[in-house]
Amino acid sequence: MKGKILVTGGTGYIGSHTVVELQNAGYSVVVIDNLSNSTADSIDGIERITGIRPVFVELDCNDLEGLKKLFQAHPDIKGIIHFAASKAVGESVEKPLLYYRNNLNSLINLLDLMPQFNVENIVFSSSCTVYGEPDKNPIDETAPIKPAESPYGNTKQINEEIIRDAVRSGSPIKSIILRYFNPVGAHPIAEIGELPNGVPQNLVPFITQTAMGIRQQLSVFGDDYNTPDGSCIRDFINVVDLAKAHVIAVDRMLGNKSKDKVEIFNLGTGRGVSVLELIKVFEKVSGTKLNYKIVSRREGDIEKIWADPKHANTVLGWTAKENIEDTMASAWKWQLRLRDKGIM
Ligand code: UD1
Repeated sequence: MKGKILVTGGTGYIGSHTVVELQNAGYSVVVIDNLSNSTADSIDGIERITGIRPVFVELDCNDLEGLKKLFQAHPDIKGIIHFAASKAVGESVEKPLLYYRNNLNSLINLLDLMPQFNVENIVFSSSCTVYGEPDKNPIDETAPIKPAESPYGNTKQINEEIIRDAVRSGSPIKSIILRYFNPVGAHPIAEIGELPNGVPQNLVPFITQTAMGIRQQLSVFGDDYNTPDGSCIRDFINVVDLAKAHVIAVDRMLGNKSKDKVEIFNLGTGRGVSVLELIKVFEKVSGTKLNYKIVSRREGDIEKIWADPKHANTVLGWTAKENIEDTMASAWKWQLRLRDKGIM
């Protein structure tokens, strides 16, 4: 065993895929999650894929006393990957205090407890949303941070600053901040995947649910952007590729290879794909015709953004490997699995 890693939000979409990769790489994993946007079923899925059942504790990162007990019960935790956060952009506009309370307190609690329990390493789940609308693409880590478009985006920016300030104050921690572009797809054997509560806010689950007949029609938010086909452009990154980057980040910190106490990496493919192109890819790999219509723009959307992933490629030795066809096929396979299991 390589060591014990605490994964907060580990039953969620990116968290569960990361637990699989950590276990495959020989780490033992403790998962905590408050199950606000996921279910403990993903623990079963993780076990079916890896043959190992991670320790699971239902716990909210805002519960400081609960977290203390957890660290006392696991004094051998070597690092944390912190996914747990509220992440719906629209909801964050309606309930900003909920977002600030949840997303800021949970990180503050962890940073507070880490030195007390001799945990030095934390990987933080950030987002390309911190860049706002880029002045140029692809965008690298030196690009300016723009004022956030939503309270959700603001919590990511503030959390990055909280980590920097904690390190600056002399706290004995180090951190790798990973800025994700648009994670999509599912594990290839479809034992885990994305399962949003209620109506999906993100594009790919909305596509797959529409193809399944759960949603009547996909609304494409705008075809009058300054892009070749008029729809927005994103960097869609396979969730398993993304999960693997977390293992590399943990290896790097535990092996004392970090060059700075806070390192930041973009995680993307380096390729921009438009919303309409993605729909075409989906139709091709699923053999279905998607019912969609063009509607007006969604407020707060970025026109186009894709990553310059060179820093992660060269420093971490990590590259996104999966192509968009296989990735969309995996999302569809997961949706079919949900149907077969009678989940939706
Ligand atoms: C958003 C956030 C990002 C966050 C991510 C995960 C911003 C700017 N981006 O990404 O930080 O990490 O969610 O929650 O805050 N679309 C449709 N129809 C739909 C849904 C989406 O056309 O029903 C389009 C959107 O207009 C957008 C693209 O698909 O152009 C991707 O949307 P989405 O999946 O919601 O992700 P982002 O908004 O890029």
